[in-house]
Amino acid sequence: MRQFILLMMTTALLAGTAVADDLHETASDMFKPLPSTIPSVADNPITPEKIELGKALFFDPRLSASGVFSCYSCHNLTTGGDDNLETSIGHGWQKGPRNSPTVLNAVLNEAQFWDGRAEDLKAQAKGPIQAGVEMANTPETVIATLKSMPQYEAWFDDAFPGETEPVSFDNLAKAIEAFEATLITPAPFDAYLNGDKNALNEQQKTGLALFIDKGCAACHSGVNVGGHGYYPFGLIEKPGADILPPDDKGRFAVTETVDDEYVFRASPLRNVAVTAPYFHSGKVWSLKVAVQIMAESQLGEELSDEEADAMVAFLESLTGTLPDITLPNLPPETQSTPRPVA
Ligand code: HEM
Ligand code: HEM
Repeated sequence: MRQFILLMMTTALLAGTAVADDLHETASDMFKPLPSTIPSVADNPITPEKIELGKALFFDPRLSASGVFSCYSCHNLTTGGDDNLETSIGHGWQKGPRNSPTVLNAVLNEAQFWDGRAEDLKAQAKGPIQAGVEMANTPETVIATLKSMPQYEAWFDDAFPGETEPVSFDNLAKAIEAFEATLITPAPFDAYLNGDKNALNEQQKTGLALFIDKGCAACHSGVNVGGHGYYPFGLIEKPGADILPPDDKGRFAVTETVDDEYVFRASPLRNVAVTAPYFHSGKVWSLKVAVQIMAESQLGEELSDEEADAMVAFLESLTGTLPDITLPNLPPETQSTPRPVA
């Protein structure tokens, strides 16, 4: 009898190991760990000089017309790379139409914005500087501002050696992209994918298995657990107008194709546990509720309480660690620096 029990226990243990191995294998097929070096980007070789310049620009509120808003205002790197507001507050205290997504790991998204309208980070960076509800500035004033500070001219020279016009709007965008490419945040899930099977606890592994089995990973996969592919928000069941406001038709504005009404990019889910509130409308403050809404709207499934808790636990394993970032010393403005406007 004792031998039989021992045999049963060994079989159970082995089966457990097989399940664990299977989960690891399936997960490794669907997701990818973060790269261990700074990813390269198209048409923009990344150099230390560009990164340092990009960092200064990212933190500099003088890129905005009012002198109040920097990229950092809405993408606070210490609170998950977003602003933790329903929708962002920008120029003249205006409330923008959408929630601010995180800039962390954004370099690995296949396209930028909730509707994917910018193909990469350098195309993206020119948007907020000019957007009336964000920084409300013009490329001409930004260039005049930068050229008024000799330190910026020197930094642009170093970052773009040999160019006749190093201080340009294009180069500003490239430098910001180079800095953003460094914002990679390895998480316990990366350690798991890299072979440390104890990096996730049992509840997180259950959540991962559910995330795959229920079908979430069909849309949220790859290195950023999303960030590529466009799907109707409300594929099976449209959420109410409070969560999916009727006037924001998502990708329809980009393609003008009726099929793209209310289509959005499947959100990248890295660091999602620290970037509430959720969805492009920012209407949902609880990750558990966001997970339940997704299950219903995208899969037509009602999750049990335990299932939703396990999925949240798995999503928490995507919270990563920021690289060390020292604050830049921004150059002082001079008599020729354009003055802030209200
Ligand atoms: C989207 C970077 C300034 C609010 C994004 C994204 C990036 C980014 C990379 C796309 C992320 C993704 O799609 O996953 C920057 C940079 C800025 C800047 C480099 C400075 C040049 C701002 C400011 C605000 C803001 C000042 C708030 C006033 C937003 C919002 C979105 C967004 C609301 C989503 C917009 C949409 O999808 O239509 N930003 N941002 N950003 N950012 Fe910024
Ligand atoms: C957004 C999780 C299934 C497509 C989100 C968000 C979460 C999430 C937490 C919000 C992210 C944020 O605001 O930063 C899940 C879970 C799923 C699931 C746990 C399974 C239960 C799916 C499926 C699809 C999908 C199957 C595609 C058919 C999307 C889209 C968004 C999104 C398009 C953006 C919605 C918006 O515009 O606000 N998902 N998801 N998701 N997911 Fe899912």
